Amino acid sequence: MLKDAAPHPESFVLENARLVLPDAIVHGWLAVARGAIVQIGEGAAPERGIDCGGDTIIPGLIELHTDHLESHYAPRPKVRWHPLGAALAYDAQIAASGITTVFDSLRAGTDPDGDAMGRELFTLAEAIDEGRRHRLFRAEHFTHLRCEVPARDVVELVENYAAIYPVAMISLMDHTPGQRQFRDLTQYFVYYGRKHGKTDAQVEAQVAEKQRVNADLVAQNRPALVAIARSRGITLASHDDTTVADVRESHESGVLIAEFPTTIEAAQASRDCGITVMMGAPNLIRGGSHSGNVAAHTLAEHGLLDVLSSDYVPASLMMAAFALPGRVSSITLPEAIRTVTLNPARATGLNDRGAIEPGLRADLVRVRLSGETPVVRQVWRAGERVA
Ligand SMILES: [Fe+2]
Repeated sequence: MLKDAAPHPESFVLENARLVLPDAIVHGWLAVARGAIVQIGEGAAPERGIDCGGDTIIPGLIELHTDHLESHYAPRPKVRWHPLGAALAYDAQIAASGITTVFDSLRAGTDPDGDAMGRELFTLAEAIDEGRRHRLFRAEHFTHLRCEVPARDVVELVENYAAIYPVAMISLMDHTPGQRQFRDLTQYFVYYGRKHGKTDAQVEAQVAEKQRVNADLVAQNRPALVAIARSRGITLASHDDTTVADVRESHESGVLIAEFPTTIEAAQASRDCGITVMMGAPNLIRGGSHSGNVAAHTLAEHGLLDVLSSDYVPASLMMAAFALPGRVSSITLPEAIRTVTLNPARATGLNDRGAIEPGLRADLVRVRLSGETPVVRQVWRAGERVA
């Protein structure tokens, strides 16, 4: 399980498997050596291997936006769990969900009305760093800083973070009411009113104040964050883009990934300028957005869905990939699997993984279908069994 523990077999063969290749499904076998896929074939394997009993083999999933670590670290309001213990429990859940590459999405920037993480960002960073340095993790972990652009401390936090720890992705979030995710103010009232026990009058006053202050903060912070990403070669993502103007601004900033565009127009505009469109897997499974925005399956029907992300439920990624062809008849299973493997790999420049193809890393998942539900049976990362 751990890299430094028991030696793992140098090479092995998976046989009697339904292999999901980038453009086809074949019944056959694959051979792994020194952490890479070396050969694939149809029909019977040339040598005996692990009999998969007809189970499906897909590439290890690649998750670009999960905030699930926070629920292990802060399992109750004001309760904080052992940071490394939280990271390890989270990592185990990630791997058991078939995810072999994960971008841990950590909130940077204190939203005074949200559940602030503030400087605890660094506590989590230290735990992740320890896990990486000592090879304690099952999945490969990259860092995605989810930056709340109108937060007063966001630029300082990100500068300090990037000076110490590697950052692979930065997303630019702006949850100011009256736009993007909260364009419809009734959703904001539901989210902040009910969640925080405020009256409508209190929420209204908060909205007016926020809109006034945030415009200035965004004007200052956004270019500073874009400059940090550019100077360090960090992949930039937009978040909740809603209008064509939002997308134009994203494109001009060098954004490569659109996280959760809230309208068809924003998704189409992203596609038109070569930005990868990512939607939430829970949105697809639940049949719509929890904030009342465009449904993932609607974008998929329009051919505008490139990447799925588990967002707040790690196991949703595998479920959504297998459910997608049933929801949208024009999408094949290989295409659906690409939304959680090859497409996120390409969007983030990870050219060594994301497909069952000779020469690529042996990040593999054995899946059995129980009815329509995909059940993860075995997971390998670079040829090593991790779940
Ligand atoms: Fe959002």
